[in-house]
Amino acid sequence: MKILAIETSCDETAISILECTGLAAQTGDTSLAEFVVVGDALFSQAHLHAEYGGVFPTLAKREHIKNLEPLTHQALVQAGHIEPEQTDTSTIYDASSKKDIAFIAVTRGPGLEPALWTGIEFAKLLGEKWNIPVHGTDHMEGHIVSALVEGDGKKYTLKIPKFPILGLLISGGHTELILMKKWFEYQLVGKTKDDAVGEAFDKVARLLGLPYPGGPKVAEAALRSRERNTDHGIVFPRPLQHEASCDFSFSGLKTAVLYKVKEMGHISDTDAEHIAHAFEDAARDVMVIKTRRALEETGAETLAVGGGVSANTTIRTALTKLIAEEFPHVHLGYPHKTLTGDNAIMIGMAAYVRHSMGTESYPLSASGTQSLA
Ligand code: KG4
Ligand code: ZN
Repeated sequence: MKILAIETSCDETAISILECTGLAAQTGDTSLAEFVVVGDALFSQAHLHAEYGGVFPTLAKREHIKNLEPLTHQALVQAGHIEPEQTDTSTIYDASSKKDIAFIAVTRGPGLEPALWTGIEFAKLLGEKWNIPVHGTDHMEGHIVSALVEGDGKKYTLKIPKFPILGLLISGGHTELILMKKWFEYQLVGKTKDDAVGEAFDKVARLLGLPYPGGPKVAEAALRSRERNTDHGIVFPRPLQHEASCDFSFSGLKTAVLYKVKEMGHISDTDAEHIAHAFEDAARDVMVIKTRRALEETGAETLAVGGGVSANTTIRTALTKLIAEEFPHVHLGYPHKTLTGDNAIMIGMAAYVRHSMGTESYPLSASGTQSLA
């Protein structure tokens, strides 16, 4: 079954066309699914939002509208649905461009509502022209599925993991621990009381004069300090580490960084690297402490780490060590590097699994705050 997937929840506009096989719908076998990426086009607006220090919703909406048609054209050409010589992007709406695509999957939330609507409206229009259904899809479900598949950027395999699955979802808008007891039955285990961890990375980057999106820049700065291996003596708090819950808090940590920056006055590049190092250590420890607690509380058999911050090497290494040393029976799933950030491949995969398990799709209205549990 072929699916066209659309992602516009934040500052990435992405279109993917996936050839999906396996799972209950076609084979009765619920143990395996395969996804071949036959078309994939993604435009990141991050550099455009950099001057605002974060995502500016009106700009995101305008850019999505501008890019959806050309990216869809690009993906359809890659998939062999449109001849490369046919450069007129309006040909995407022709019935002949659809070929064997069975349905369209589109992110309906959570995210920025004006941005989500652009994807939904476009999906509806294309669905009408092609006369095929459009399935609303959850962005965070996409991040969970992306942590459960194995692949190389072109092809991904989903071997059904052992349930219950604990999802650690860490992105620019979310920091939560969610238990999936069986497919698509969720229970909230813990979440942030204030900022998301990615947001904290982005805010710390701004305090240190590093550009948006700050997560990778803070990680690079921290790495330079780690490599120097000097004792910089900076220690930041690990918020809620002793609280008997799986909730997170990052606003106090961000404020501690702010005070440190103010206290130091002028900060050199080396100072910034030390601060980034100490901040990343604190964020890492909080992730480990809360994930340990959640694994103990839930008895989960699989840990699936998803969202933009799952690209962070320090956090990845610490979680890998936690599982190896304390929970060796737990399967640890991490997204391939092509799937850590926002993308449409994960949206198509999540929509396919939902569909083939006979679970209803999400409504076709934008929901900025939609929550899995
Ligand atoms: O999932 P994502 O691409 O978008 C949202 O759904 O929010 O996550 C983006 C977040 C940003 O806050 C970005 O700074 C952070 O992920 N991020 C990182 C790294 N790469 C991206 N944070 C820490 N270390 C990284 N290597
Ligand atoms: Zn995301």
